[in-house]
Amino acid sequence: MLPATGSGPARLVVLVSGSGTNLQALLDACADPAYGAQVVAVGADRDGIEGLARAERLAIPTFVREVSSFETREGWDRAVRDIVMRFDPDLVVLAGFMKLVGDDFLDEFAGRVVNTHPALLPSFPGMHGPADALAHGVKVTGATLFLVDAGVDTGPIVAQTAVPVEPGDTVESLHERIKVAERAMLVDAVGRMARDGFTVEDRKVRFGR
Ligand code: GAR
Repeated sequence: MLPATGSGPARLVVLVSGSGTNLQALLDACADPAYGAQVVAVGADRDGIEGLARAERLAIPTFVREVSSFETREGWDRAVRDIVMRFDPDLVVLAGFMKLVGDDFLDEFAGRVVNTHPALLPSFPGMHGPADALAHGVKVTGATLFLVDAGVDTGPIVAQTAVPVEPGDTVESLHERIKVAERAMLVDAVGRMARDGFTVEDRKVRFGR
């Protein structure tokens, strides 16, 4: 569970696969003690990415677990679970982590894994949210923070932010506009989860205890 008020900042482990701009937004927010959370470790499924470098520059512990280093996907999942456990997180934040975590991971951290997705779920789940929204011709898309369950982008929604699709948008221009709003949403919602706690009832996520 998230710590009770007054018991120190919530411990975040953040998992990334790429540039890590969402991670950076969290790192910047955590520099203010009033934010109520600290990033205690950053993990990735691949080496040599900017997301890891962002943590290394702040001397935050990092780890890499590549799927290809394991005989089975389940073995990889357990290895990620084990290393994340060592950092005793209150909340695990998947911030551009392009792998699905499995049952062993979710059993351990049930109800305290969030993922940020670049579309307004339940529309456009999966790996290509901005491209799928653009191809469908929607006029508004956005980003969603949700609690991870066993499905693909199906868990209870913590926060959403809407972003217009502009004429002439490319996948890249649309995704960049989404990411600006996404970072603000992520920082706001994770801060509330850390400071105020949250409950989930019948899929409805509410901040506060
Ligand atoms: C973010 O837009 C995030 O929502 C997306 O990857 C981007 C990572 O950006 N994740 C997914 O599409 C997961 N299905 P970042 O590395 O700059 O934070």
